Amino acid sequence: MSANAVIARASTIIEQISPDVTADFALRKSLGGDREMEPALKRAIVRAVHAYHRWLGWLDQAERTHRRVAAALELQDRFDAKPDSFKAEALAARSVPQWLAAEVDLTPDYLRQLQRDPALYLRTQREFAASLPRALGSMNRIDSNLMGYSFAPPVDTAFAYTGTRDLHVADEFKQGLFEIQDLGSQIVGHCCAPRPGETWWDTCAGEGGKTLHLADLMDNRGLIWASDRHTGRLAHLRKRAARAQVFNYRSVVWNGGPVLPTKTKFDGILIDAPCSGVGTWQRNPQARWTTTPDDVRELAGIQRQLLDHAAPALKPGGKLVYAVCTITRSETTAVADAFTAAHPELEPLALPVDGGAAQHFVLPEKLNCNGMFLAAWRRRA
Ligand SMILES: C[S@@+](CC[C@H](N)C(=O)[O-])C[C@H]1O[C@@H](n2cnc3c(N)ncnc32)[C@H](O)[C@@H]1O
Repeated sequence: MSANAVIARASTIIEQISPDVTADFALRKSLGGDREMEPALKRAIVRAVHAYHRWLGWLDQAERTHRRVAAALELQDRFDAKPDSFKAEALAARSVPQWLAAEVDLTPDYLRQLQRDPALYLRTQREFAASLPRALGSMNRIDSNLMGYSFAPPVDTAFAYTGTRDLHVADEFKQGLFEIQDLGSQIVGHCCAPRPGETWWDTCAGEGGKTLHLADLMDNRGLIWASDRHTGRLAHLRKRAARAQVFNYRSVVWNGGPVLPTKTKFDGILIDAPCSGVGTWQRNPQARWTTTPDDVRELAGIQRQLLDHAAPALKPGGKLVYAVCTITRSETTAVADAFTAAHPELEPLALPVDGGAAQHFVLPEKLNCNGMFLAAWRRRA
């Protein structure tokens, strides 16, 4: 595989990106259906497109696209070899938009983490946690106490994948033995800690990443209502659930409004709310340049509404978990604090983190995964 071929293909993909076509979409369209291409070549092209967006603020916009891609890859190599040679001030000025400083503490560690290639994480079904690493190989189990978390029982289903296989075509994937799921998202499932036989509502279930995790933690016993405003995402959830042999769920459309999809009262509600996705900027660097402060403001309003509308469906003693894959103040502590103040019928609930705090940031620079925020409450009896 020649470096020039990678740069040429990455440049063609970058030129297809527009306000209506994201980098991820352009990559999927260009590479997704190409069964002939070597996985290593695909990975190199994806890496080049992401490196381009990671270093965009450092590139000479007057240069032709392929020159800019080559320059981005050079910067990436220099950074990977010596991250400390890049000053935090320069990264803050050129690798993230200027509005971010008002929303996030731009520490040197965080800024450097944003410039690294992301790790790939898998979550196995509990039944296959011992056998899958032997079958698939290149799976490093993440330490069960997950760097300071006190999950009970300890987690043994989270792995970093360091191999080179295209996992989407692996038989074990088609049989639903594992999911590709970021470590931060897996932490959300463990903080919910649903018990077998309970009834949960995953209000923003999307394509079901967390629904499937909750089902596995519940030994597929009890019931999960999985709702979303997008029917297409719920259709995908049903396919994934069938693959994973998960049947203890109901999928329903809910648009986040005051009319709830059921009169059921729940033991637990997870609101994995739509958000600006700032926590995913390492994995999806193009979003740094398309997300705006208006998005953050608008999404904070939607997040608060989802919490207000869903909370009445909790049983007395029931648990409410709010999660977002962002770390902006407006969408995290500000939403959670305002919600706490407006709902005296709920009390903040200790998470199995930070010595029992009721709010918690999963920091990318600490765990090498997406940034997330979690908050939890219990309905007073
Ligand atoms: C962070 S994603 C959910 C990811 C999913 N829980 C998972 O683990 O794969 C947020 C989801 O919220 C949904 N959503 C956005 N606005 C909504 C609303 N007003 N009411 C309900 N769902 C909404 C989106 O369609 C999206 O699927």
